Amino acid sequence: MKVSVILAHPYNKSLNNAIAATVAQRLKENNHTVYFHDLYAEGFNPLITPDELISDNSRDELVIKHTREIREAEGLVIVHPNWWGQPPAILKGWVDRVLRQGIAYDFPEGDNGGGLPVGLLNVQAGIVFNTSNTPQEREDSVFGDPLENIWKECIFGFCGIHTYERRMYRVVADSTDEERKTWLEDAASLINKYFPKI
Ligand SMILES: Cc1cc2nc3c(=O)[nH]c(=O)nc-3n(C[C@H](O)[C@H](O)[C@H](O)COP(=O)(O)O)c2cc1C
Repeated sequence: MKVSVILAHPYNKSLNNAIAATVAQRLKENNHTVYFHDLYAEGFNPLITPDELISDNSRDELVIKHTREIREAEGLVIVHPNWWGQPPAILKGWVDRVLRQGIAYDFPEGDNGGGLPVGLLNVQAGIVFNTSNTPQEREDSVFGDPLENIWKECIFGFCGIHTYERRMYRVVADSTDEERKTWLEDAASLINKYFPKI
């Protein structure tokens, strides 16, 4: 399968980078084609232009490349830290610019955008890996885990990705080497579950 891996973290020695590297390696070991993008490293510009907004067409070569790949992708893996209950801004910009109408979703003939969207992506499974510093009990009771709704419904559900699984590794700030090793092993086995060896 063709699998897009999108990483949003500025520091190349972070846990997020290690997760993304583990994911890409396991996908390759399982003989899948990997489209790997480290958004910070490649300097992805999250700012949508007025022209792009009104035309639904981008002139940014990187956006065009991402758009082409996401249309081909049969799997999608997103890796990012929890920043203020949201993805880092660079990834939000990727969603705005790449998962556009006509590419990732559309509305039926005669619907101006007020009705129910039709997902256009051919992604058979979408996986999200998150990290955070908030214990689960506090995340659920105080913050309501906004990332779950953002990915499951607002983004993946909207674009037609209905097979979805998300991991949240926490509390990173208090974690031991052993714990981080276990998380990386878990990430690799989740990849095996959805993208087994072919
Ligand atoms: C700008 C910023 C915002 C953050 N917001 C949150 C937050 O809302 N909830 C939380 O649990 N952790 C938050 N954190 C902590 C990060 O989630 C944590 O540092 C990261 O998941 C650790 O993984 P890493 O080592 O790969 O960076 C924030 C960190 C930064 C830099």
